[in-house]
Amino acid sequence: MLYKTLAAGVIAFGLPTFASATLIFTTSMGTSVTNPGFLSTIKYTDGKLEVINNQTSVCGVNPSWLEFAGDHIYCLDEVWASGSIGSLYNFQVTRDGTNLTQIKKLDTLGGPVSTVRYGKSLKGLAIAAYAGGGFQSFDISNPAAPKAIQNSTFTISQKPGSGAQQKTSHPHEVILDPTGDFIAAPDLGADLIRIFKVDKNTLKYVESKPVPTPDQSGPRHGAFVKLDSGTYFYVVTELSNQIIGWKVNYKTDTLDFGEKLFIIPTHGPNTSVPPGTAASELVISPDSKFLLVASRNETTSLMDIPNPEDKAAGQIKSDPIINYAIQSNGTISFQQVFGAGGKNPRHFSLSKDGSLVLTALQDDGRVALIKRDVQTGKLTEFIGAVHLGGLPTSAKFKE
Ligand SMILES: *[C@@H]1O[C@H](CO)[C@@H](O)[C@H](O)[C@H]1NC(C)=O
Ligand SMILES: *[C@@H]1O[C@H](CO)[C@@H](O)[C@H](O)[C@H]1NC(C)=O
Ligand SMILES: *[C@@H]1O[C@H](CO)[C@@H](O)[C@H](O)[C@H]1NC(C)=O
Ligand SMILES: *[C@@H]1O[C@H](CO)[C@@H](O)[C@H](O)[C@H]1NC(C)=O
Ligand SMILES: *[C@@H]1O[C@H](CO)[C@@H](O)[C@H](O)[C@H]1NC(C)=O
Ligand SMILES: *[C@@H]1O[C@H](CO)[C@@H](O)[C@H](O)[C@H]1NC(C)=O
Repeated sequence: MLYKTLAAGVIAFGLPTFASATLIFTTSMGTSVTNPGFLSTIKYTDGKLEVINNQTSVCGVNPSWLEFAGDHIYCLDEVWASGSIGSLYNFQVTRDGTNLTQIKKLDTLGGPVSTVRYGKSLKGLAIAAYAGGGFQSFDISNPAAPKAIQNSTFTISQKPGSGAQQKTSHPHEVILDPTGDFIAAPDLGADLIRIFKVDKNTLKYVESKPVPTPDQSGPRHGAFVKLDSGTYFYVVTELSNQIIGWKVNYKTDTLDFGEKLFIIPTHGPNTSVPPGTAASELVISPDSKFLLVASRNETTSLMDIPNPEDKAAGQIKSDPIINYAIQSNGTISFQQVFGAGGKNPRHFSLSKDGSLVLTALQDDGRVALIKRDVQTGKLTEFIGAVHLGGLPTSAKFKE
């Protein structure tokens, strides 16, 4: 506390400090080889956002996700034109964020959308492959020569009445549990949370019994949280627009989620969303006290917010971020709805100290920054935004 107060004082007196500049890295999708995707670096200093790098084509046409490992950045390209093969790029990045140099490009299963580091010294990199319906692992201990370790693809039996996104398996995220022994992967196509037990040394994995979610729910992104009362897992579902919570029981070779602790609509108990709404992201605050979800395509219930790129430019339409407090028994209680900063927030992330929320707004070509009160957990105001163009798909702080 004292340290924080002193640090704040130093910044207030305007003395130079490295902590005052933060780098943000983003992926933006293109639509074709003639309109490729790009990676951008945004510098955030004293309330101002500035694009300091914008490299086109370096992560293919459909960059979806970024992972940081020291001075390396891994980027996934979904390669929509292929379907069966995606790409994992490894870049070395200069300290100032202005130059990404490709070190390696590897094939992945089709349509990779998410990564997580795992294993000893976080030398493993697991990938969720949406289009290819798979899960995969890489050894990144030597950044100059990352290598594929293992991969799996899943076949499912289609449920009656299921739609276009549930004809095949579609893992959408990979999430490491607090012990580092398991990775959970919500499978949007299969209505399952797939569970993998990992070996921290060899990086090998074994799939164990998956956890079902309701039919046609479409689990997309989730998170673990460790509280005094135990470990919990939460997932947001894209098709049914709900948040589901479970208490996690640890077994030797698997995670037993047992009965659901709760299942509520994304906007809270007894609320509904317009047809076509597709919830996207779920994030837990660094202090484990709040859960935030983003919702997309809320056509008839979009919010009116000041244009975060320029407050003088009037109001714009925005999808929401919905904010919950996590209670000591793992249930959640509604706090607020705040504008995401525009349309289609495919992804958002928090700064390490929880004071900033960064959103990637796919349909507005924008990345926005929202101030968050770490004590109350409330999102309070837009700090600013930059117009990147393209279709921003992810935005993360490199701290
Ligand atoms: C980026 O770094 C690479 C490797 O050091 C170098 O070849 C290239 O010229 C640099 N590009 C820019 C724009 O500085
Ligand atoms: C998946 O694993 C098989 C063998 O286990 C290998 O032949 C194949 O190249 C791997 N696929 C990818 C995309 O890494
Ligand atoms: C939601 O509706 C149910 C059933 O009508 C009711 O029992 C419950 O109290 C309501 N909850 C809230 C938070 O309004
Ligand atoms: C958004 O919702 C509308 C209205 O239901 C629907 O027609 C449209 O396909 C949806 N868009 C996406 C990208 O899902
Ligand atoms: C969890 O705690 C909240 C807040 O104290 C309480 O309202 C709720 O009934 C509890 N739920 C369960 C399942 O224990
Ligand atoms: C970044 O590059 C893309 C692709 O070339 C371009 O469309 C976009 O306008 C650029 N954005 C900025 C902020 O320079």
